Amino acid sequence: MKRQRIALVTGANKGIGFEVARQLARKGFRVFIGARKTEAGIEATTRISHEDGTAEFLEIDVSDARSIERAAETCARVTDWLDVLVNNAGIVVDGDDDVMNLTPEIFEGTLRTNTLGPLLVAQAFRALLAKSDAPRIVNVSSGGGQLTDGADGWAPAYCISKTALNGVTVQLAAALPKFAVNAVCPGWVRTEMGGANANRSVGEGAAGIVWLADEAPHDLTGKFLRDRKPIPW
Ligand SMILES: NC(=O)c1ccc[n+]([C@@H]2O[C@H](COP(=O)([O-])OP(=O)(O)OC[C@H]3O[C@@H](n4cnc5c(N)ncnc54)[C@H](OP(=O)(O)O)[C@@H]3O)[C@@H](O)[C@H]2O)c1
Repeated sequence: MKRQRIALVTGANKGIGFEVARQLARKGFRVFIGARKTEAGIEATTRISHEDGTAEFLEIDVSDARSIERAAETCARVTDWLDVLVNNAGIVVDGDDDVMNLTPEIFEGTLRTNTLGPLLVAQAFRALLAKSDAPRIVNVSSGGGQLTDGADGWAPAYCISKTALNGVTVQLAAALPKFAVNAVCPGWVRTEMGGANANRSVGEGAAGIVWLADEAPHDLTGKFLRDRKPIPW
C-alpha cells in the first residue's frame, strides 16, 4: 500500500493557502494547516477536516525564526516525514507604494515575511522533507517580482521581496538536488490581498500551486511558473 502523502501549507487559514490546503486534502494528502493566528488556524483546520479530508493545525509565524523552529519540532513529534512544503504566507504592507519614500520598516518587514520566511521554513523542515521519496517545495511568488519587463511602481517592497524569493528558489533548487523546488505565480486572485476586482477565483489561483505540489514531473525544478508553464524571471 502506498503511504499517505503529507503536506504543509503556510498561511493556510484563508485565501489561496486555504484553497491549496483544501485541494490537497481532497487529493488524499494529510495537510498541516500552517497559520500564525491560533483561532483562525483551528477554524480553517476544522472546516477542511469536516469537508475535505485530513487536516491538522500547526502554529507558525514565518516572520519569526523561533516560531518556525518550534513548528518544525512540533511537526517532527507527530510525523516522520513531509512530502510537500508550500511556502504560501505573504504580505503587502500598507504604504508600500512609492520606492522613493519606502521606509526601512516596510522594506525589512516585507522581506522578513515574504523572502527570509520561506528560506527559514525550508531550512527548518528540510530533515522531514528529506525523508520523502519525492520531496517538493513550492514557493508562492508573484509576477510582480519579474524583472523582464521592468517595474510599474506598484508595491515596490512586495515586488522586490518576490524577486528575491525567486532567487531563494533557484538557490534551494541547487542546494537540494533530490528535491523539486519551484516558484509559482497564481495570477491575480480574488483574496484579501488581491481584492475584489481580480480576474481569478481562489480555485483558479490555487490550481498551478497544487499541480506543482502533486502532479508536476519531479525533475521540473528551479523554475518560475504560471499555469503550469515556465515564465521569465
Ligand atoms: N492574491 C493575488 O492576486 C496574488 C497574486 C500573486 C501572488 N500572491 C501570493 O499568494 C500568497 C497568498 O496570498 P493571498 O492572496 O491568499 O493573500 P491573503 O488572503 O492576504 O492571505 C495571506 C495569508 O498569509 C498569512 N500570513 C501573512 N503573514 C504571515 C506570517 N508572518 N506567518 C504566517 N502566515 C502569514 C495570512 O495570515 P493572517 O490571516 O494571519 O494574516 C494569510 O493566511 C502570497 O504569498 C501572495 O504574495 C497573491
